Amino acid sequence: MIRKTPELAERSNMRQLFKMVLAGCLAGSLMTGAAMAAADGKSEAVTPTSKDHPLEEIWSGYHFAKKGTKETQDNEFDNPGNLWLEQGMELWSKVDGDEKKSCQSCHNDAAKSMKGVGTRYPIFFPPWKKLINLEQRINLCRTKQMKAKAYKWKSNELLGLTIFVSRQSLGMPAAVVLDDKTKPFWEKGKAHYYKRRGQLDMSCAHCHQANYGKKIRSNTLTQGQANGFPTYRLKWGKPGSIQRRFKGCNKQVRAKPYKMGSDEYVNLEHYVRWRGQGLPIETPSVRP
Ligand code: HEC
Ligand code: HEC
Repeated sequence: MIRKTPELAERSNMRQLFKMVLAGCLAGSLMTGAAMAAADGKSEAVTPTSKDHPLEEIWSGYHFAKKGTKETQDNEFDNPGNLWLEQGMELWSKVDGDEKKSCQSCHNDAAKSMKGVGTRYPIFFPPWKKLINLEQRINLCRTKQMKAKAYKWKSNELLGLTIFVSRQSLGMPAAVVLDDKTKPFWEKGKAHYYKRRGQLDMSCAHCHQANYGKKIRSNTLTQGQANGFPTYRLKWGKPGSIQRRFKGCNKQVRAKPYKMGSDEYVNLEHYVRWRGQGLPIETPSVRP
């Protein structure tokens, strides 16, 4: 235990003050958001609406987490992912790039312009004739609209902005679109999901469909749902994208992972998010 020098004490007072100010400023989005999520069923099962859905009940990873982990997620000041949310919020209005613009210059109030966005990505993107996920969409605005550098996948900036944008859909049901345009990519994602791979010769479905709810080492296998991403993973000590998680799961069965942002992973992300249809968005979730 560190003894508090006056200086340290002052700093922690400052931090306290900052938290209070932040709580005040964000009363609309963050606070009511957190209250909403606690009551909006992330620990209840969702019944799939698509008749060919492979699961009878859809569960958020939250449902399988230990009590302490759930509490950390739900407590606004304890959830370490909220530091990245704050950073994303600051970046939203920060001018950058040759066009001297910020996200806010074009999109104004994120609570309005970005509401629902986190529920429906990846979407079909006509200029690319394929799917685009949220991280890619944000980076495209950076490079094309702001003439600024794209952020790296694991950067705090991209994680922060992705959390901040998705957070505007807190508690809203996940609803990626499956239609004529997205279907071919969804099919590829589905094939990836069910393909056995790696030295262990296992598919995603072996763990997340056939065995969810069972213990694996000290944790419980979940359905591998996407609604908490970017998630703050205690093991990583920072938030990570869903595609970082895909890499980890590929490696667990000793299969070669794909690159983040590869077509394979964007298609897989679309399919995985479709499997979680109806689950409330809960980023930044906290997971072991
Ligand atoms: C110069 C204006 C401009 C700037 C600056 C800008 N964007 Fe955009 N953004 C756009 C346009 C135009 C679109 C496409 C709108 C459409 O597809 O209808 C868009 C689309 C988006 C979308 C997809 C929204 C949806 O409904 O699917 C996201 C997310 C987004 N921007 C995030 C950001 C972020 C984060 C930043 C800052 C890093 C940013 N944008 C900066 C102009 C801008
Ligand atoms: C050998 C078992 C195994 C396989 C195979 C596997 N995973 Fe996982 N996965 C895990 C474990 C263990 C975790 C951490 C606990 C949990 O959430 O199930 C995890 C977590 C996840 C999560 C995070 C869930 C959350 O709520 O944060 C996602 C998403 C995921 N896996 C997707 C996949 C996908 C997609 C595949 C196939 C490419 C896959 N996994 C293959 C074991 C596996």
